[in-house]
Amino acid sequence: MQILAISGSLRKGSYNTAALRACNELLPSGMTMRIATIADLPMFDQDVFDAGIPEPAKRLRAEIAQADGVLIASPEYNFSLSGALKNAIDWASRPPNQSWQDKPVAIFSCTQGPLGGARVQYDLRRILVQLWAHVLPRPEVFIGNAPGKFDAQGRITDENTKKFLTDLLAGFKPWIERMKVKK
Ligand SMILES: Cc1cc2nc3c(=O)[nH]c(=O)nc-3n(C[C@H](O)[C@H](O)[C@H](O)COP(=O)(O)O)c2cc1C
Repeated sequence: MQILAISGSLRKGSYNTAALRACNELLPSGMTMRIATIADLPMFDQDVFDAGIPEPAKRLRAEIAQADGVLIASPEYNFSLSGALKNAIDWASRPPNQSWQDKPVAIFSCTQGPLGGARVQYDLRRILVQLWAHVLPRPEVFIGNAPGKFDAQGRITDENTKKFLTDLLAGFKPWIERMKVKK
């Protein structure tokens, strides 16, 4: 079972990206994960799409299509998604063969403030669900006060955070099996 991970933050020291890296060690057996690159996507433009999908967008669309599930780690920017994450979702969302159709997705969010992205997750769900992605309903994982939960190398030091992510990934596996569309 192959998982494609997408971080909504482009910065080097991102807690969301660090949490995704940490997920590699928390995966249930039989699941592998790799992190997609979205930093090289141009801003979505339907004219550009129609003239020929740019390579980075083609790559992302193929990666999502091939993955058994997508794990999204999202920062919260001004109570909602980062532009980078919305842009990636948009590139993958245009027909033909929009990449989110019937795709199992799990999400979590990570912020430096105390709420952990309580507002962004519902925007993210709303966007993905109308694209017919199957977003894992629970557990919801909000990692707040992130600077106190990671060391300088980006490793998670907080045992509860590790457990929340472990539970999320453990729940994602049967969700993917359950949501598999017979073709
Ligand atoms: C443009 C911008 C807007 C932000 N808005 C929010 C917000 O609405 N809520 C929140 O909890 N944190 C907000 N933050 C703080 C981010 O949660 C914090 O920078 C976090 O570390 C971003 O995730 P990252 O570490 O993966 O880059 C904002 C940060 C930026 C750059």
